Amino acid sequence: MNQAALHKLVASRAKDKSPQALFELRLNTNLSLIQQLFFSLYPVEKHNKDFDDLLKLFPKLFALRSKELRLQDIKRLDAGTWYQNEEIVGMQLYVENFNTDIKGLQQKIPYLKNLGINFIHVMPITTRPKGESDGGYAVNSYQKVDKKYGTQEDLLHLTAEFRKQGILLMLDFVVNHTSDEYPWAKNAKKGNKKYQDYYYTFENRSTPDAFEKVLPEVFPETAPGNFTYIQEMDRWVMTVFNNYQWDLNYTNPKVFMEMLTNLVKMVNLGVDLVRFDALAFLWKKVGTISQNLPEAHNLVALFRMCLQVVAPGTIFLAEAIVAPKDIIKYFGEGPKLGNECELAYNASLMALLWNSIATKKTGLLYKSLERVPAKPKESTWINYIRCHDDIGLGYDDGFIREMGWNPPEHRKFLLDYYCQRLDWSPATGLLFMYNPKTGDGRITGSAASLLGLEKALASGDGEQIQLSISKIILLHALILSFGGIPMIYAGDEIATLNEYSFEEDPAKRGDNRWVNRPQQNWALVEKLNDKQLPQSQIYHTLKHLIAVRKSNPIFADSNNLKLHHGGNEHVLVFERTHHSNNGLLVIGNFDERPQVIDLAWVMKLGYFTKGEPMDLVSGEKIVVKSGLLELKPYQVLWLKKA
Ligand code: GLC
Repeated sequence: MNQAALHKLVASRAKDKSPQALFELRLNTNLSLIQQLFFSLYPVEKHNKDFDDLLKLFPKLFALRSKELRLQDIKRLDAGTWYQNEEIVGMQLYVENFNTDIKGLQQKIPYLKNLGINFIHVMPITTRPKGESDGGYAVNSYQKVDKKYGTQEDLLHLTAEFRKQGILLMLDFVVNHTSDEYPWAKNAKKGNKKYQDYYYTFENRSTPDAFEKVLPEVFPETAPGNFTYIQEMDRWVMTVFNNYQWDLNYTNPKVFMEMLTNLVKMVNLGVDLVRFDALAFLWKKVGTISQNLPEAHNLVALFRMCLQVVAPGTIFLAEAIVAPKDIIKYFGEGPKLGNECELAYNASLMALLWNSIATKKTGLLYKSLERVPAKPKESTWINYIRCHDDIGLGYDDGFIREMGWNPPEHRKFLLDYYCQRLDWSPATGLLFMYNPKTGDGRITGSAASLLGLEKALASGDGEQIQLSISKIILLHALILSFGGIPMIYAGDEIATLNEYSFEEDPAKRGDNRWVNRPQQNWALVEKLNDKQLPQSQIYHTLKHLIAVRKSNPIFADSNNLKLHHGGNEHVLVFERTHHSNNGLLVIGNFDERPQVIDLAWVMKLGYFTKGEPMDLVSGEKIVVKSGLLELKPYQVLWLKKA
């Protein structure tokens, strides 16, 4: 049962509809599921007392929630699956790169609103170690704002203003690990046994060695292996990401309860959506790759159900950059097992779009998308093309083979294409975490640079500049129309190129993801009235597409995506169907040459029966010649029936 249905049930039973009474009802309604999830992780024989502690925690946590947020919770529950709405358009940004600090971000609300953005993912802003901190993903605190961003008061002002102006805020909950400076880690280093058990620590290499037999490496170049020896405590600690990020030990129920408290305190700052960072890694077991384990799902569901009781207006985003069949599971596997996340990153679509750009073909995209299991009705995607991370090439080898390609050779081609190892490629990306042992590597770079704008501008080649502009618009038009919330990466709306200054900074040099974490170019923003600039063309087109999306309910996600084959290997066609038969047909050409598709089948879908359909991208009617629909290089169409 989804949150809204559950709420209706709860509310219908309630005589007293005060927030307090509804909280108690929610607790009663969810209790047996919470208990079941808790004991599935922490066996009843040993953990009865811990469960009692959890029960005692609920009223304390609810008491921390402000009156305003409690009322908002109820409104959200009444609104049902509000996050599927076409009006939500997101942007991800680094506060320091966007406009210095939290106050600076607040000043730029008019810029965001003008573009049509009403949902912001603010990258980590809490305290972190000096020097390397994985961009703040090594946390020293879950609530304390790092002074380089401002104060907690600034954040509270910002969230109050966001609420007033109808802007949603997403913050990360770095749930898998803390920094090695987090108070628990400091206590562990001092030899405190209680806190050593908050992490996976070992007195010798025997368990680490057993783990290492099958555990993959996340950052093989800079942080090989998954364990770090800590001299101060003379123990090994599990560090799956960087050696200064200690993995939390969720087999210890105290860790769960303390992290739940951290989560609630964080959402009480006015957070609407929580990005569950690296959640696939939450449970570890020797002999497994320790990703996507059933216990990790139960743990996410337990967090979800507890938040459902205390702060039910807050929803979760799964940051699970794993195979499509595994991503889907983070939406939850049915009422008996508990809800997990309402949203998940559509990492598969993202990676497949980059494959289609490099190969100029859509076959792999179709093969993979067609076999993604259906997602639950109440869930939705975050669709994106770039973010602060790298692009991984996690395609299904079987599908690559079906395309007639050899998987390792194909991956090598993609790395060559994007990472400047092919003269003819327009892309200027960098190779990230190349692992010579496996031949695996990932790609970094800004969207505009990966799509050829950096090279085209440097050479002044007008035709290449135009092609690059079209590619940037194509990919954004697809994420805006695919079904789900589009998330634009700050700077992409003005085609920001790679930024190489990280190479001068010792704390960033080792991690070339910084090449795609640029400063917002406000001087360029000032010039956007100059319609000749490539960046202005992109900005104004995106602004238009966002406005079109927001004014057409067909863009809302109601699980109404249907793929069609256009009979042209360079073209992607999908439809957002509507029961009134008045859907939206999206057609994208991934080739640098014009392409045609046969109109006969488009006719069958009913898009030309009442005259020429309107293309919402260009605002023009489609003209058809001799039964063929012509597409310009990298053109994208949003067709509405006439
Ligand atoms: C997520 C973040 C990434 C970070 C990692 C470890 O994958 O997106 O930037 O390095 O988690 O916290």
